[in-house]
Amino acid sequence: MTQHPSIRPLAPACGAEVVGIDLADPSESTMAQLRDALAQHAVVFCLDQHLSPAQQVELTRRFGQVLRVPYIRHLDAHPDIIAVLKEADERKISTFGGTWHSDFSFLDEPPSYTLLYALELPALGGDTLWASQYAAYEALSPGMQRLLDPLRAIQTAWPHGTRGPAPSTAVSRSIGMARNDPSADREVLHPVVRVHPVTGRKALFVNPVYSQRFEGMSEEESRPLLQFLFQHATRAEFSCRLRWAPGTLAIWDNRCLLHMALNDYDGSRRLLHRTTVAGERPVGP
Ligand code: SIN
Repeated sequence: MTQHPSIRPLAPACGAEVVGIDLADPSESTMAQLRDALAQHAVVFCLDQHLSPAQQVELTRRFGQVLRVPYIRHLDAHPDIIAVLKEADERKISTFGGTWHSDFSFLDEPPSYTLLYALELPALGGDTLWASQYAAYEALSPGMQRLLDPLRAIQTAWPHGTRGPAPSTAVSRSIGMARNDPSADREVLHPVVRVHPVTGRKALFVNPVYSQRFEGMSEEESRPLLQFLFQHATRAEFSCRLRWAPGTLAIWDNRCLLHMALNDYDGSRRLLHRTTVAGERPVGP
């Protein structure tokens, strides 16, 4: 059946709502419209979906190879899915994705897209924010752009490594994260500015969770400029915010966005199913 989705932009920098689309078994033309919407808005919110775990994995495959991400527990019955879960009794603890980041940017080939499907939500709170890294790059002065264009930064899976938070640090037990794993200390170099393989636009590609320092510089030397970039990259005018409803599927492009989950719903259960699409090695300007 031909679908005619309506796409409503939510903010100037990124984000669009998609209605009138059924992603349980989409046609190739629906997929093409979705890919176009992603190229234009970077993150899309598909409302009122009814997806089984198997259908979500199948939809994910339509975007590329499904990535089984490291360091996070997967569903036993669906190893391509992570349950992003915080239980009602898990109070005053950090949550998964609660700091601005681009998913798994420490991998040699970080993910292209992430799909997050809402199942159970607090009555209020638990929104997610995204920030356009095209907008962040484009708002910099030409001098700063010229400075950043040739730089590379070291990325590690710091939260899971031997220099990460102590294993006793309170974090949602429901998510099941590896801690203190020496393999997570591995350093990977990626450009600080990456050229998007689909749009050709330049985007900032550093984040406060995984980016440690600039190539050839110490952490201390790198800190002032990194701190500036982390703050600049998440300015409100580069962002959009989603108030989830059960059945909303968010699909976003990690190559040109940062995102974070708001941890403001202690006392409520929040459950979403997350799948990830493998990406490519980032390329600088
Ligand atoms: C994530 O970073 O993938 C989690 C986002 C969320 O729970 O809203």
